[in-house]
This record gives sequence, C-alpha cells and structure tokens, in this order.
Amino acid sequence: MIPIETSRLLMRPLSVADAEPLAAVFSDPEVMRWSDGLLDAAGIRDWLGKRIAGDPLRPWIGPWAVVQKSTSNVIGYCGFFYFPDIIGLPETEIGFRLVRACWGQGLATEAARAALARGFDLYNLERVIALIAPENVASIRVAEKLGMRYEHDVMLEGYTYPDRVYVIHRPNRLC
Ligand SMILES: CC(C)(COP(=O)(O)OP(=O)(O)OC[C@H]1O[C@@H](n2cnc3c(N)ncnc32)[C@H](O)[C@@H]1OP(=O)(O)O)[C@@H](O)C(=O)NCCC(=O)NCCS
Repeated sequence: MIPIETSRLLMRPLSVADAEPLAAVFSDPEVMRWSDGLLDAAGIRDWLGKRIAGDPLRPWIGPWAVVQKSTSNVIGYCGFFYFPDIIGLPETEIGFRLVRACWGQGLATEAARAALARGFDLYNLERVIALIAPENVASIRVAEKLGMRYEHDVMLEGYTYPDRVYVIHRPNRLC
C-alpha cells in the first residue's frame, strides 16, 4: 500500500503497533454500533493480522491507518475490503471508522475521497460500494458527500438487518 497524504491526514499501511491506538476504535460501543461487535486485544491483533496480510490477487485490498497530521495520532482506518459475493457479484467496498473524538470534522470524507481517488487512478477500480446500516446516518452522509448513490439492499451473513448498498463508478477519463 502506497501512503496517501491529504491536507489533514496521512494514510499509511497498517502495522501491528497500531493495535494500541485502534483499541479506542474497536472497544467503543458507539463506534462499533453498526458492526458485528466489539473487539478485544486478541480480536484486534487478529483483525490487524488479516488486514496486514492483504490479498495477493488484489493489492488495493486492506485499509490504510489514518493518522492525523496535527497530532501524529492514529485516529482510525479507511480503505478497501473485498466481498466475493454480494448478490452473486464480487465487490470492492470502501470502509471507514474513526475514533469518536475526531467525528464531525470532515475527516472520514477526506480520507475516503483520497482512498477512492487512489483506487480509481492507480488500481483501475471500476466500481466501489459502501455497505451501510440504514440508520447509520453519518455514514450515509459520508457516502453522499463522496458522490455515492443508493443502489439496493443486501442481507449480510450474521446481520439481523439488511445493509444499504451505495455505489460509485470510476469517473470517465478524457484520454
Ligand atoms: C461514519 C464516520 C466514519 C464519519 O466520520 P466523520 O469524520 O464524522 O465524517 P464527516 O465529518 O466526514 O461527515 C459526517 C457527516 O454526517 C453528518 N452527521 C453525523 N451525524 C449525523 C446525524 N446523527 N444525523 C445527521 N447527519 C449526521 C455530519 O453532519 C456530516 O455531514 P455534513 O458534512 O454535511 O455536515 C464516523 O462517524 C464513524 O467512525 N462511525 C462509526 C463507524 C461506522 O459507522 N463506519 C462506517 C461503517 S459503514
């Protein structure tokens, strides 16, 4: 994963040392409200191990650690996840999760916009989805600000409600 720099953020590959700052994300019930549950230290290590291993067939898969440049703190993650079967189709999802103290400053939108640009420009992704719980209004708003459009609902394994699928396609190139 090649790092990305935005005006307020540095997005770099995750490392095992990120387990500690990411505990503020994975152990906060409010941050994890729309997920399949909180993660303890072992769960975070397992999550990080899988994300750091990535996907050899799809080098864009695996989120970046999101670092706030003004503090050098890791404040969450943002990047691409692979879903082999969303109603019969493989999909690339953009996912984002930030510590609560950093919400409401446009940082998730800034991170996700930069990740999408990287996915379209470097990895030639044609289509990226976001899977969002219908009541997760902050995430829906982020998706809208990114230019994503609601397409359909999908019932994911282990969930008790259908997620909304928001979609964005690679912008047309002039040449
Ligand atoms: C979703 C999340 C990443 C957003 O991070 P953020 O940095 O606060 O997002 P932004 O500031 O870029 O944008 C949030 C938008 O949602 C809006 N919003 C937030 N809470 C809202 C609410 N309860 N009702 C309506 N709008 C709301 C904000 O006003 C903002 O829109 P605006 O710029 O038009 O004012 C963060 O809330 C989070 O980590 N949530 C938990 C994890 C999660 O749900 N991840 C996504 C899984 S699909």
